[in-house]
Amino acid sequence: MSHKIALIGFGTVGQGLCEILIDKKDYLKEKYYFDWKVVAVSDPVKGSVYCPDGLNVEKLLKLAGEGTALEEYDCKCDKAAPQFGWDALKTIRESNADTVCELAFTNVETGQPAIDHCIAAFESGKNIVTSNKGPAAVDYAGMQSLAEKHSVKFMIEGTVVSGTPVLNLIDGPLAGCEISSIKGILNGTTNYILTQMEAGMEYSQALQKAQELGYAEADPTGDVEGFDAMAKVIILANVVMGAGITAADVDREGITGITPEMIAEASSDKARWKLIGAVEKTSSGIKASVKPKKIALTHPLAGIMDATNALTFTTDLLGDITIVGAGAGRIETGFSILTDLLQIDRTNH
Ligand code: HSE
Repeated sequence: MSHKIALIGFGTVGQGLCEILIDKKDYLKEKYYFDWKVVAVSDPVKGSVYCPDGLNVEKLLKLAGEGTALEEYDCKCDKAAPQFGWDALKTIRESNADTVCELAFTNVETGQPAIDHCIAAFESGKNIVTSNKGPAAVDYAGMQSLAEKHSVKFMIEGTVVSGTPVLNLIDGPLAGCEISSIKGILNGTTNYILTQMEAGMEYSQALQKAQELGYAEADPTGDVEGFDAMAKVIILANVVMGAGITAADVDREGITGITPEMIAEASSDKARWKLIGAVEKTSSGIKASVKPKKIALTHPLAGIMDATNALTFTTDLLGDITIVGAGAGRIETGFSILTDLLQIDRTNH
């Protein structure tokens, strides 16, 4: 049976996911028995369309690419009448989707509107897959327990370093290891800016390039002031260590105070500035921070350049494990949604 998907938000990540779903349709079916249908898309800007029998995803991408409203979608389906103009909550509650991919623009401090979207999905018996950091950063425990109460899944791999496996890795192959510390480069935009500044580019030009390349958040203040990395630190602390921390518990500083002079001085000291996110279990509790640190070039994190992210987990049974990979991007974050969809779908086979 096809896995029925509703997309809430049809921006970079939603479209990236759809491109992957189209390109890999046969492969996903043959190798993972994953057969899918996108039944609904609802986006506050691009419009909204729902057809219980499934939509033609190429057509949706074409309309979005041309800037044509999704209400212009020409549904050839003869069994069910398509519905147009449904908002996010109506789509979540009334569509026949099995899983809602929550990819709408969300305020990371309040977690809204994504939190309301998650609650509506769980209460209507639908799984949530999201790369939105808001719900997990603001209320991971609440979201997880509501999902469990309704016997559905709350899947959030894409909230931390896009599709590079972190949360599913810890929950899957690393289950049984206790993790006492997680440290690394958790934001691609700032690492890209610091890399380009070292090569001589101005801060503002480097930020603009990071936006053009699709790394930066819609409001890049979230990246450069460390809020994006802070949300990831909170998620890691709460999901991996059950810490129950909030933004007030994270010692946060961004990269806006780093000057070209400081970068040049670090180079002559055989070091490099990196924005480091860290969460550690200590004898006095969990310590969490996001701070620029001057790191010796001999340190493994000093060699992580451009928008690449890297995380080192200190475990009791395997020592240190480091994972290096993409932390942002259309296809990379689209893949994070696919990997969670596959995880959910696997339980049906
Ligand atoms: N803006 C983020 C980054 C994207 O630069 O890493 C993923 O959260």
